[in-house]
Formats: sequence, structure tokens, C-alpha cells
Amino acid sequence: VSGAATPPAGPLDAAAEARLVRAAEEAMRRAYAPYSSFRVGAALLCDDGTPEGRVVSGCNVENASYPASICAERSAVAAAVSMGLRHLVAVAIVTEAEVPSSPCGICRQVLVEFAPRMPVTSATTAGAVARWTMDALLPAPFVPDSLARG
Ligand code: THU
Repeated sequence: VSGAATPPAGPLDAAAEARLVRAAEEAMRRAYAPYSSFRVGAALLCDDGTPEGRVVSGCNVENASYPASICAERSAVAAAVSMGLRHLVAVAIVTEAEVPSSPCGICRQVLVEFAPRMPVTSATTAGAVARWTMDALLPAPFVPDSLARG
């Protein structure tokens, strides 16, 4: 299976991280979360061939049929892939929670498809920050190669 690129893992420099967190916070303010009132924004740094890359963001979009809601991280991945950007370099998440939120299990699975080792930064609007990598958040993942048959 091809199409899910695996960019090299690398630390995210402070300026790039700050840019991503800003974009994630802007996206959070566009969240549609009338049921949970829990607003989430996510921003992906995508390798578009330019030195600075391209930032694509998403927010959670809830629904009156609650399970039809989509998380911010998956909104961002869908937006990036729809724009032709599959080389995900890093992700930032912003919420108004007390502690930085890590991506939910479904979002981990969706993120790992495109970036199995990328850095994940989660910040709160109050300024708390947590950092992980995708391989720490989702060890032993089911990935495109897992579909290979003998
Ligand atoms: N949510 C996200 O957007 N990302 C996550 O990783 C966890 C949860 C959203 C889903 C729902 O709209 C709200 O947060 C409360 O669960």
C-alpha cells in the first residue's frame, strides 16, 4: 500500500512549534462544540516542498447525533490530505482544559497512518504544554504495511 509517506522523525524547533500552537489555538476558536463545550484545535505542519512547510488546521465539529462528531485532529488530517498534503511533520493541539489533552485513540490511529513518529505538542490556553511522539502514544500500531499478506 502506498501513499502514506513516512517522513523522517525530527525534533521540532521552537519557532515552528510556536507557529503550530498559534494555528491550533485559532482553529480551536472555530470549534463547533455546542454539546460538550470542549473546544479543540489541531494544526499539522505539512512538508509541501518549501523550507517552511505548510500549516493545515482543524477543529472538532460536533453533531446532534453525538457519535457523528469528529475530533480536531481528524478534521486537520482530512483537510491536509484533501489539499494533497500527506507528509505530516508535526502536530499541535490546543484546548481550554486544565491539563494538555493527548489525542484520542481514534485520532492516534489516523495520525499514525501518515506520520508514525512525528512530534506531538499539546498546549492549553493557560500555557501548559506537553510533548510526546506518535510512537510513544501508539506503540505497535496497525499501519499500511500491516496489510501485507504472506
Ligand atoms: N476531541 C477532539 O477534538 N480531540 C481529541 O483528541 C479528544 C476529543 C473532541 C471530541 C468532542 O467534540 C469533544 O472533544 C469532547 O470529547
